[in-house]
Amino acid sequence: MPNRLRKVVFPVAGLGTRFLPATKVVAKEMLPVLDRPLIQYAVDEAVDAGADTLVFVTNRYKHAIADYFDKAYELESKLAQSGKNELLAMVQGTLPRHVRCVFVTQPEALGLGHAVLCAKPVVGDEPFGVILPDDLIWNGSGAGALRQMADLSVRENGAGVIAVEEVAREQTDKYGIVDARPLSERAAKINLVVEKPKPEVAPSNLAIVGRYVLPGRIFELLENTKPGAGGEIQLTDAIEALLGERSVLAYRFEGTRFDCGNKLGLVKATLAMALADPALAGPTRAYIADTMG
Ligand code: G1P
Repeated sequence: MPNRLRKVVFPVAGLGTRFLPATKVVAKEMLPVLDRPLIQYAVDEAVDAGADTLVFVTNRYKHAIADYFDKAYELESKLAQSGKNELLAMVQGTLPRHVRCVFVTQPEALGLGHAVLCAKPVVGDEPFGVILPDDLIWNGSGAGALRQMADLSVRENGAGVIAVEEVAREQTDKYGIVDARPLSERAAKINLVVEKPKPEVAPSNLAIVGRYVLPGRIFELLENTKPGAGGEIQLTDAIEALLGERSVLAYRFEGTRFDCGNKLGLVKATLAMALADPALAGPTRAYIADTMG
């Protein structure tokens, strides 16, 4: 049982229709929160968790993510020649040297479960992480959510771990919802998980957010998962099947989640990052006070 999560999968094949028209040409994962694209926050969190292999499940039209993590020869040599070392370090720092990226395509948009299954040839039969970059989880200088989950998985003999957060009852049909028995302040053992239940039938208001630590076994379960909610192959349904075989824990992470899959979430994330930035915090506060006053 490896004690570190080496591989993390990023399903990034979505069309980003909520951000049209920008997403006609800009992948939604490239939308910036201040000066960094969403995907950078997700990758930093994976690296913080110990990953050295990042698997991007993309579609045939999206090249920006590969370009972003590629070496930018011309830009880098210009910055080096003009002695702009800080900018150079920033450009080169998008990916640490020991980390490699692998790109696989999802030929058809058949659902999140299908997207994760596309990573099987790269991940093989070992525990891996999944990050949905739309969910930006920020824990300041503390351990990222995925690292917290990877550590818990190791402590719990390789149990699957899924990040959860309470949501308003009327929102249950936007999420995977778990029914779980508390084990500690942050962890609970999942009894049942269901994708996007209507509020009146949801087993709780504890929702899955975009972080998972899963065993390689999930791929075989995904291969046998029939289309579920919305006619899509759901990761949630394969996790429900996994529950019959081994422990899967729901984990309330330390940190704040911003749902950057919608505009308000992106606004909130941008504000939070501005307020956390020493140079921007003061002017941002002043602007808010002026506008509100
Ligand atoms: C996906 C998952 C869902 C989860 C959500 C978190 O849904 O299927 O279980 O709660 O991500 O963001 P999607 O947002 O892709 O519809």
